[in-house]
Amino acid sequence: MKTLTSILSLSLILVLFFPSSSFSTRCNPQDKKVLLTIKTALGNPYHLASWDPKTDCCGWYCLQCHSKTNRVIALTIFNGELSGQIPSAVGDLPYLETLFFHKLPNLVGTIPQTVTKLTRLKSLEVSSTNISGPIPDFLSQIKSLNYLDLSFNKLTGSIPPSLSELPNLTDLHLDRNRLTGSIPDSFGKFKGKVPSLYLSHNQLTGYVPKSLGFLKFPNLDFSRNNLQGDISFLFGPGKVLWKADFSRNLFQFDLSKVVFHKSLSWLDLNHNKIYGSLPQGLTSLNQLQFLNVSYNSLCGKIPVGGKLQTFENTVYLKNQCLCGAPLSACKKPV
Ligand SMILES: *[C@@H]1O[C@H](CO)[C@@H](O)[C@H](O)[C@H]1NC(C)=O
Ligand SMILES: *[C@@H]1O[C@H](CO)[C@@H](O)[C@H](O)[C@H]1NC(C)=O
Ligand SMILES: *[C@@H]1O[C@H](CO)[C@@H](O)[C@H](O)[C@H]1NC(C)=O
Repeated sequence: MKTLTSILSLSLILVLFFPSSSFSTRCNPQDKKVLLTIKTALGNPYHLASWDPKTDCCGWYCLQCHSKTNRVIALTIFNGELSGQIPSAVGDLPYLETLFFHKLPNLVGTIPQTVTKLTRLKSLEVSSTNISGPIPDFLSQIKSLNYLDLSFNKLTGSIPPSLSELPNLTDLHLDRNRLTGSIPDSFGKFKGKVPSLYLSHNQLTGYVPKSLGFLKFPNLDFSRNNLQGDISFLFGPGKVLWKADFSRNLFQFDLSKVVFHKSLSWLDLNHNKIYGSLPQGLTSLNQLQFLNVSYNSLCGKIPVGGKLQTFENTVYLKNQCLCGAPLSACKKPV
């Protein structure tokens, strides 16, 4: 009886001094401290109201802990009113694999250099925010990165050539910024994996480096820039390429002899200065779902076969003299 009483009173003391949640607390105390610093740095936003120091941080909104180690592995903040800069304290979450800031119009400033401390970071996304300034060169130090997405921001300056030093990069999204300069020559020298490159809606100029012809990029989107010259070297029978969007640039080359790999499913070349005729090989692309060659200087009969007659005529319009289905019939030579 005496023991039971003491057990009961001990339990009572425990309950009084350590609220129920503390019995199931998984959160690492060091991570918790850092998260609270991050919350303060972001101005204690309502968005992070669940980040209550009295509760287990592994249950907080926008967070994920590892199921065994209980260390914070993902911080994903999106669709909020929070304002200020990305807190430098994010670099003090050493087990972070995913860091994600998306649709935060009041997020400003630059990416803090402390992210280079995150040696396990696989996925870094800062998109649809108002961060500005140049893309930091130091991002190339986060060798563990697979996925880097800095799209829909106000980034300026040129693309750091050092990004090609990321050995495991599979996706690079720098689209919809205000980037200038040319595509770095080093992008033809990615070591290890060859990433998909999304560079559209910027102000990039110059020629696409010939070095890019040595690699097999899964997807390339260079649309809506001011790039020029011949890019036929990006295609070829050995080039597995699913999506190629080079629309709305100043590309100028003869399309007649270009050979496409059978993997091609999306080819957008509209609004350039491409000349010659449509190659017969286009008819054997069984995967082709989208084609647009409008607003160029192409001429001659649209080859018959494959998917080419299934597209609406707008994909062929505004060329020098393309003819044949789905456009009007070619004039007989006189
Ligand atoms: C950037 O801020 C402006 C207002 O200053 C806002 O209108 C715009 O939506 C913001 N951009 C993004 C991508 O959130
Ligand atoms: C790259 O990926 C491989 C395979 O997933 C992994 O073993 C390696 O550690 C990664 N490299 C870096 C620098 O993270
Ligand atoms: C092809 O591109 C032109 C020019 O941008 C556009 O007007 C047309 O709608 C496009 N066609 C399709 C099917 O996307």
